[in-house]
Amino acid sequence: MFVCLCKGVSDHKIRATVESGARSWREVRAETGCGTQCGKCACVAKTITREAVKSE
Ligand code: FES
Repeated sequence: MFVCLCKGVSDHKIRATVESGARSWREVRAETGCGTQCGKCACVAKTITREAVKSE
């Protein structure tokens, strides 16, 4: 599922970014560009990031 339409970032991509070392929403955002345009996806993307980091 696409979380960020502006940057074409999926929930899978967020999880993969966490798996490859990102440890915070800030890092996921910097790496994927998610949330850097309109910002509408930020809340959902943050939640997915938090859950992914927790389950690492
Ligand atoms: Fe993610 Fe617009 S949907 S920045």
